[in-house]
Amino acid sequence: MKKLFLAAVLGVAAAAASAQGQVNVICSVQAEWCNMISTVYARTTGTKVNLSMKGSGEALAQLVAERENPKTDVWFGGTGDPHLQAAEQGLSLEYKSPALGQLQPWSQQQAKQSGYKTVGIYSGPLGFGYNTELLAKKKLAVPKSWADLLKPIYKGEILVANPAASGTAYTMVATLVQLMGEDKAFEYMKALHKNVSQYMRSGTGPIKAVARGESAVSISFVHDGPGEKMNSFPLETVTPLEGTGAEIGSMSIIKGARNLDAAKKFYEWALTPAAQEMAAAARQFQVPSNKSAKVDPRVPDFRLIKFIDYDYAKYGASAERKRLIAKWEKEVNSLPH
Ligand code: F6P
Repeated sequence: MKKLFLAAVLGVAAAAASAQGQVNVICSVQAEWCNMISTVYARTTGTKVNLSMKGSGEALAQLVAERENPKTDVWFGGTGDPHLQAAEQGLSLEYKSPALGQLQPWSQQQAKQSGYKTVGIYSGPLGFGYNTELLAKKKLAVPKSWADLLKPIYKGEILVANPAASGTAYTMVATLVQLMGEDKAFEYMKALHKNVSQYMRSGTGPIKAVARGESAVSISFVHDGPGEKMNSFPLETVTPLEGTGAEIGSMSIIKGARNLDAAKKFYEWALTPAAQEMAAAARQFQVPSNKSAKVDPRVPDFRLIKFIDYDYAKYGASAERKRLIAKWEKEVNSLPH
């Protein structure tokens, strides 16, 4: 199916393609999606896409390091909080796309609150992934709430990422702080630490490991679940009863981009329905930000999920993100298991 889709797009486009320069893209979604957009874009436009794949926190760290001599033109995907931080730190360029009016209100809001230095390209809820076979084998119940994850039966069974490297894990920290208040959230994360076997670098590492039976439960974006299931892994997802947060996956043009025209063209293309529908073709099931993009039936139904009113401006602010991550390192990650 995926191969057919690619072949169709490439077939139509191959004839039109001619050499049109290059664009350097940091891509913070899963590899299959990154590879699909870069291949299709290169073949259809003739523009070479130099791709570098990095988690959201690592991407931001690279942009900070390159500040004096930027090597990146576009940062595609990754959670919105570090994109807002990049905007605040002057790492990304103000750019108002003519397509803004075609985008969902949450995507436009993300653009507005960054001074048009970033834009929402997708959204998806935080929840848990679990391995149905492993839970059955170990006679463990499906965790349904944040409170459930603290039960001693899950000791050593929970995988989550490290919030300094992963936007997924930072979304968890910010969600818990908003849900419980900061003191209680840190008490909660200290207690959770006893059940966590490992903090992984990549936000999707935990759900992949759980799908493959390396651990029973992960804290993950639930839109990363169906892809694992389609690969025949016994993986299901659930969102916590108390409420949860959602990411606004974002895209930014980098200030000082060497290939600015190419960057703008790629950015505009990435906002089109056709480009956004490639996510599902690459087995990733976030909600697309373009209102005309088809929503795959495997995309989580937001109407069935209890959400907190996530304060993107507050938790995307540099000082707040740095402070919470440093506090997590000091008070949670340093504790013995
Ligand atoms: O592509 C998968 C995904 O879950 C995105 O929805 C999200 O923006 C990204 O991974 C976050 O990755 P990380 O946690 O590694 O920064």
